[in-house]
Amino acid sequence: GGTALASEKHKDIVNVSHRGASGHAPEHTILAYEMGEKMHGDYIEVDLQMTKDGKLIAMHDEKLDRTTNGTGLVKEFTLDEIKKLDAGSWFNEQYPQYAKPEYAGLQVPMLEEVFQKFGKNRSYYIETKSPEVYPGMEKELLRLVDKYSINKEKLLVQSFSSLSLKTMHQLDPSVKLVQLLSYKGDAVISDGEIKEISKYAIGIGPNHTYLNEAYVHKVVNSGLELHPYTVNTKDRMKTLIDWGVTGMFTNFPNLLHEVKKGK
Ligand code: G3P
Ligand code: CA
Repeated sequence: GGTALASEKHKDIVNVSHRGASGHAPEHTILAYEMGEKMHGDYIEVDLQMTKDGKLIAMHDEKLDRTTNGTGLVKEFTLDEIKKLDAGSWFNEQYPQYAKPEYAGLQVPMLEEVFQKFGKNRSYYIETKSPEVYPGMEKELLRLVDKYSINKEKLLVQSFSSLSLKTMHQLDPSVKLVQLLSYKGDAVISDGEIKEISKYAIGIGPNHTYLNEAYVHKVVNSGLELHPYTVNTKDRMKTLIDWGVTGMFTNFPNLLHEVKKGK
C-alpha cells in the first residue's frame, strides 16, 4: 500500500551535507564536514575554487570576502596566502545562535586535505565552480581522485556547466555526474533536455523552490537521479520525498535524518 511505499522511499533518500553541516558550522571547513558525517549525511558536498598556484580548495564563492577575513578573488592568491585566513569567525558573527569559540581561526581546506582526512571510501559530491575561470580544473580534480584512489562508485561530480561535465565525461567516463539547474519560475523539463543530459550524467540537481510533482515524476521515471538543493525544513523535505526525489542537499543533515526515520 501507499504507506509502505512511502516509508521505503524515505529510507533510500540520499542525504547530502551541503557545504558540510553548514547550518551548524562554518561552510567548507573540515569541522563542518565532520559534523555532516556525525549528523548522518551520506555525502560531503565540496565546492571547488582554484588558487593562483593551481591548488583546488573547498570554497563556494570566487571571492574570499564572504567566508574569510580576506578580500579579493581566490585566483589572485596563492594557497599559502589563503591558508593564513580565518574561515570561521564570520560564521560566529553572522549566526550567534550557532556560534562556537572553536570555529574562530578555522582554515580553508585544500581538496587534498579533505581526501586525506576522510579517506578513499567516503562519499564525496564535488562541484566544479566557475570552470570557465579555472581552465584545467577538471583534469586537476581527476588527478587528485586518482592520487588518493578515491572510490569512484561513491563519487559524484556536479556542475551548472554542461561543458565542464562533458569535459569530465571525456576525461574519465567512469565518474558519475550530476547536472545542476537553476529555475527562476515553474520548473519544466523537455524530453529532449532529459535525453541530452542522460548522455553524460546520471542525475539532475535543480533548485527545489519551483519544483512540482509532475517534474519530479518525469525526471525520476526517465531513470535519472533527482537531488534538489538546498532544502532546510522538514516539511519541505517530506513533500519532496512524497513526490519521489531520490536525494537532496541540506544545510541540516540532522533534520533529513529525522525525516528518514519517520520523525
Ligand atoms: O550544488 C548544489 C548546490 O550547492 C548548488 O548551489 O550555489 O550552493 O553551490 P550552490
Ligand atoms: Ca554546490
